Amino acid sequence: MLVLHGPNLNLLGTREPETYGSTTLAEIDRTLVAQATAAGAQCQTFQSNHEGALVDRIQAARQEGVNFIIINPAAYTHTSVAIRDALAAVDIPFIEVHLSNVHAREPFRHKSYLSALAVGVICGLGARGYQLALEYGLSTASG
Ligand code: DQA
Repeated sequence: MLVLHGPNLNLLGTREPETYGSTTLAEIDRTLVAQATAAGAQCQTFQSNHEGALVDRIQAARQEGVNFIIINPAAYTHTSVAIRDALAAVDIPFIEVHLSNVHAREPFRHKSYLSALAVGVICGLGARGYQLALEYGLSTASG
């Protein structure tokens, strides 16, 4: 399992808590690692504010034998053909997660370059969305 977080998610906890909640990224990651470990799986997490670093991490995932990705691409959701192409290239199933309900927000957040390739999309459920995505990934993959 690989969990990827895009730009500005390192600020979770203090970043617009009315929209994104008060749980920090470290707390989210700790919960996910514990959830995977309890299921006998491995879970790596990675956050970057840089598009190319996320592309590099996705490419590396294939070499590492990662068989499921959970990604909150944050603002890159709405802009990044490069991240979309990287996910298509490695052909690893993934779930797209957003803390907020992007469809209830500004129109520019309604479009995702990734959703059409995703196994599924979870949005608006806060940090719990990651846990639900992981639960699904754990039930369908083993790494
Ligand atoms: C987000 C939604 C995006 O529109 C925004 O740019 C983010 C976070 C979310 O988790 O709700 O940074 O992906």
